[in-house]
Amino acid sequence: MDWLHWRDEFPILSRKIYLNSCSLGALGVRSQARVREFEQEWSTYGASAWYETWMRRLGELRMRVAVLLGGDATGLALAPSTSVALAAVASALDFRARPKVVVADLDFPTLAYQWMVRPGVEVVRVPSDDGATIDPARFADVVDERTALVATSHVFYSTGAIQELSTLATIAHDRGALLLVDAYQSAGQLPIDVSRDDVDILTTGPLKWLLGGPGLAYLYVRPELVPRLRPTVAGWFGARDQFAFDIEHFDFKEDARRFEMGTPSLPSVHYALGGQDVVDEIGVPAIRERNAALTERLVNGARAAGLRLRMAPEPEQRSAIVMVAIEDPAAAVAHMARRHIVVDSRPGHVRVSPHFYNTEDEIDRVLGELVAWSRP
Ligand SMILES: Cc1ncc(COP(=O)(O)O)c(C=O)c1O
Repeated sequence: MDWLHWRDEFPILSRKIYLNSCSLGALGVRSQARVREFEQEWSTYGASAWYETWMRRLGELRMRVAVLLGGDATGLALAPSTSVALAAVASALDFRARPKVVVADLDFPTLAYQWMVRPGVEVVRVPSDDGATIDPARFADVVDERTALVATSHVFYSTGAIQELSTLATIAHDRGALLLVDAYQSAGQLPIDVSRDDVDILTTGPLKWLLGGPGLAYLYVRPELVPRLRPTVAGWFGARDQFAFDIEHFDFKEDARRFEMGTPSLPSVHYALGGQDVVDEIGVPAIRERNAALTERLVNGARAAGLRLRMAPEPEQRSAIVMVAIEDPAAAVAHMARRHIVVDSRPGHVRVSPHFYNTEDEIDRVLGELVAWSRP
C-alpha cells in the first residue's frame, strides 16, 4: 500500500501534524466532492432530489455500513448521534423483569447516561483493575438473571484498549441478557463482525475513524431482534407507510429503520459517504495493520524515553489511541498546537491518535515534543 499517496486526499495534512483522529477524522477531498454534488442536486432539482437520488443514497449508506459491520442492511438505522440512537434503544427495552444494565467504568459517559435517567433502571459499573482494561471476569461477576443488558465499548476512548466482543456476548447471553456495543472508537480502525461475535446491538458513527464528520450516527440491531423491540419514541421515517401521511394509524417499519425518526442531515450523509469511499477502498484490515505499526512505534519510543503510558499490556489489545501521562496536559497540547501538531488532552494525559495517513516521521516528531515537555 502506498500510504503516502493517501495523504493527498486530506488537505489538513499539508499544514498540520494531525494526530487526533479519535476525536475527529480528517476531512477528505472525496467527502468535499460528495457534498458539492449534494449541493448541485439541491440547486438543480429542489425537493425532487429526494426521489431522484437522496433516498437511494440513504439506502446506499445503510448498506455499506452494514457490510462494514458484518451485518445485514435490514439491521441498520441512521440517527443524528449515538446518544439519540441509544435513547431510542433504551425506550424499546422492557426493564420490569430485568432492571439491571451493566456498563464499564472506562466507557464513554453517554453510554451510561441512557440508563441512569430511566426510572426503575439500576446501572452497575464494572471497575478496571489496572486503569486501562477491564477483565471480562469482572463482567461475569455482576451479570445475572436480573440483567437486561451489558452495554460497553469495543475500544475504550479513555485508554484505547480493545474488548473481546465474543467473550462479552457469551457472558451476556449465558445469563439471558443482551449485548450492546459502543463501537464509536473501533469502526474504521478495527475489523468488526457483529454476526461472528453475536452482538445484539451496536452504535457507531462516521465522525472519527470513518472520516465522515459530525451530524450522523449508525445503529445496528440484530435483525431477529428488531421485531421484538418497539421504541416508545417515534417519527415518520420509522413509519411503515411513511408517505401515506396517515395520522390515525401508526405501524413501525419491519426493519431497523423503525428506530429512525425525522429528516436526516443530508450534508452529513454525503460527508460520510466520502469517508466510507476511502475506508472501503483501503479496507479495514490494512488500516488496522498500518495503525498498529504507527501505534507500536509511538509506544516503544515513549517507553524508551521513560514516559509513562496508560494502555493495555499486549499490542493486540491496543488500538491507535495512546495516552501519555504528562504534567499539565492542556498546556502541553497548546504548546504543540503552536508547533502545528494537533493532539488532545484528557485528565493527566496527552492523547495521541494516529491514523493510516500519518507517517513515521510525524510519530517521531510528536515523541520528541512529548519528551522535551516532560524534561524541560
Ligand atoms: C466511545 C464514544 N461513544 C460515543 C461518543 C459520542 O457520541 P455522540 O454521537 O452521542 O456524540 C464518543 C465521542 O464523541 C465516543 O468516543
